[in-house]
Amino acid sequence: MPILYTIQEVRDIVSKLKCAGKRIGFVPTMGYLHEGHISLVNESIKENDITIVSIFVNPTQFGENEDFSQYPRDLKRDISLLNDSVDYIFSPSVDTMYPGKRFTEVIVNQYSEGLCGKSRPGHFTGVATVVAKLLNIVSPDQAYFGQKDIQQALIIKQMIRDLDFPVKIRICPIIREANGLAMSSRNVYLTDVQRENASVIYRSFKKALIALKQGQTNAKMLVSTIKDMINNVEGAEIDYIEIRNLGTWDIASTIDTQEYVIAVAVKFGKTRLIDNMIIRGD
Ligand code: PAJ
Repeated sequence: MPILYTIQEVRDIVSKLKCAGKRIGFVPTMGYLHEGHISLVNESIKENDITIVSIFVNPTQFGENEDFSQYPRDLKRDISLLNDSVDYIFSPSVDTMYPGKRFTEVIVNQYSEGLCGKSRPGHFTGVATVVAKLLNIVSPDQAYFGQKDIQQALIIKQMIRDLDFPVKIRICPIIREANGLAMSSRNVYLTDVQRENASVIYRSFKKALIALKQGQTNAKMLVSTIKDMINNVEGAEIDYIEIRNLGTWDIASTIDTQEYVIAVAVKFGKTRLIDNMIIRGD
């Protein structure tokens, strides 16, 4: 499977494929692939003639005190995981993506408030900008994102609508470990004990869901159910727990028949994990 390193190589190949009438699916990633990423790849393979995966740890979406330099990387392993299934990998260097001083950024004003928008200032500008660049380079028919990063997925969908990108965005379900922990490249930082403790996040979602089904539609009460359960676990440090309306992005007060998302970020040691669950009261 060819590995492409330059923008021109990608453009040349894609334009030939498009002339041949091929439908192109694209999965942007930062590598250190796991089953969550692979589920997006499989969805793309199912729905397109050609699948292109990008592997690029994007420096502009990491804050100054974040883990850009420590972010796990293993291109060889990633290639071997994708070798038999995808058609091309695009693995540009930082210099290829950002050759000079930058004067343009994509700021999406809907969905960036709260959650990681608050905890990681500038993060979503970095994400929206690099995704805009990648979509302009690859120009796929469909691009695949995970619900795991729900705020990111909503922001990208908004960007596509507002800026008329000719691409369809597909959001795929969260893939979890057997204990319920959402898969993440950052899980590699967790000790065995932390990994087990971190399963409390999903267990707390399930408890909130049961409470909702039993008639507890007060969002503050649901948040406190989750908070109490997570706080009970050794070493868990909550960054945020929020419930927001998926359409309007308002903080929820009552869970009615619209769709809402419960979103959390919790630190275990130095590792910050995010997870979410979509709910609706009916
Ligand atoms: P990364 O964290 O590598 O994730 C790449 C894609 O995989 C994202 O769309 C993410 O939501 C999805 N994903 C991660 N874990 C998942 C899981 N457990 N189940 C389902 N999907 C999962 O997100 C990024 O990279 C970057 O911000 C990127 C979009 C590539 C821009 O740099």
